[in-house]
Amino acid sequence: MKPAYYVTTPIYYVNDVPHIGHAYTTLAADVLARYKRLKGFEVFFLTGTDEHGQKVEKAANTAGETPLELADRVMKRFQALWEKLEISYTDFIRTTQERHKKGVSDFFAKVMEKGDIYLGEYEDWYCTPCETFWTETQLIDFKCPDCNRPTEKLKEESYFFRMSKYQDQLLAHIEANPDFIQPKSRRNEIISFVKEGLRDLSVSRTTFKWGIPVPGNENHVIYVWFDALTNYITALGYPDEGGNFEKFWPVDVHLIGKDILRFHTVYWPTFLMAAGLPVPKKVFAHGWWTVEGQKMSKSLQNVVEPNMLIDKYGVDAVRYFLLREVPFGLDGDFSHAALVNRINSDLANDLGNLLNRSTAMLNKYFGGELQTPGAETPIDRAYREKTEAMIQQVDQHLDDLSFSKALQSIWEVISAGNKYIDETAPWALAKDPAQKERLATVMYHLLESQRIVYFLLSAFMPKTSQKGLCYLGVTEEASAEGLKWGLLKPGTKIAKAEALFPRIEAEG
Ligand code: MSP
Repeated sequence: MKPAYYVTTPIYYVNDVPHIGHAYTTLAADVLARYKRLKGFEVFFLTGTDEHGQKVEKAANTAGETPLELADRVMKRFQALWEKLEISYTDFIRTTQERHKKGVSDFFAKVMEKGDIYLGEYEDWYCTPCETFWTETQLIDFKCPDCNRPTEKLKEESYFFRMSKYQDQLLAHIEANPDFIQPKSRRNEIISFVKEGLRDLSVSRTTFKWGIPVPGNENHVIYVWFDALTNYITALGYPDEGGNFEKFWPVDVHLIGKDILRFHTVYWPTFLMAAGLPVPKKVFAHGWWTVEGQKMSKSLQNVVEPNMLIDKYGVDAVRYFLLREVPFGLDGDFSHAALVNRINSDLANDLGNLLNRSTAMLNKYFGGELQTPGAETPIDRAYREKTEAMIQQVDQHLDDLSFSKALQSIWEVISAGNKYIDETAPWALAKDPAQKERLATVMYHLLESQRIVYFLLSAFMPKTSQKGLCYLGVTEEASAEGLKWGLLKPGTKIAKAEALFPRIEAEG
């Protein structure tokens, strides 16, 4: 039986259209999903949309639609973008689906039966855009400490979750499991937060209707974060604890942005503890993208639309850039100049050129037919060993979610390939009939190293990987078994490659 691997993205609010921030998390999850599939895992990759709550209700009112009409319209935009970005998700959950509503209702009832949800009264400051209550001392000039927008004072009857009860258990869990919250800086942040003391959490609302009713009390709808977080198990069929739930829970990694860390590492695990279910193995919070040095916002009209980027630069250039440019976990800045620079230097010059040069030479010197290699010299051995080491490095970096380091390891081998050509000077070997076997060895090393490079790239740039392998005459799909040296067969016909990534001239 294949080992199981479960990876999730946040579910996206439908009051906003997709931008590079959303594309970023989803893309990272896709690379992990593709890589784990390649390594022989049975992967469940979940994404979806968060469709309840006051924020969505308000946006629908403004647009003159019902919340469900708004959700239907916007969720299609997410799905269309994921298709265009070649996202290989297993399931797309919408919180308005029956399977989800039923699961949330059961989950809530279960925690209530355990005595960890009780009815009380709430009076505090509410930030609608963040769907978060704040105490007066947390406010900054009566504004939300997260988004700096005005808050309003709300008093309502509310159900509360006894989060305070789980403070010690949560802290002990975080401390015993250094991998649970990553990166480390985020882990420290949460440890301090929990140590300051957890308050009970309001988990229902009476001031609007757009949500899942509290079981047994229709005046209340379940708090949107309680509803949303539960998607990670309702998609697995919860409350049925067999089937996919048994196979995939607890999740291997929840990928999220740093702004929603507390919900995923304090609220969610304590809900699960109360329900007697295992907590996630890992939550990884990535950083935020700014655009040309500024915060991305509708009012600044600088929101970067992935659709537009893909149309302009191609899907794989965008996939490469987003994961290569900024170490996962840190904040980064998006600029067209940086993207064009990466395309020209890494993709056109390094990757594309290597394939181009080596396939052209094989065609010129051996009519495009791969020859049996002869004995290795130290320079060939060093190049082969570097290629073999890359396989381990990529594996390790992806385990650590260091996407940019994984790509860096691959690019070191690509650069080594270009250097290997310069040092072995095949054009000189071709002039001397006595060097024919030497030339065959050099060509074999160049093309075999690239076969492995394109196998690994299948997780990052699926189309480019396919194209590259096609030029190399490889018909089988990238697989873990193929990640070893020496599988490219002498006799293989190899076509002369076109430019994989044409250079882009800077816009004047
Ligand atoms: N609906 C909640 C998540 C519920 S998960 C149970 C939500 N949705 S969101 O649409 O507002 O944001 C989704 C993700 O997009 C978050 O992980 C957030 O960090 C990410 N990003 C939003 N803007 C971003 C950037 N500018 N840069 C990087 N990621 C950003 O929160």
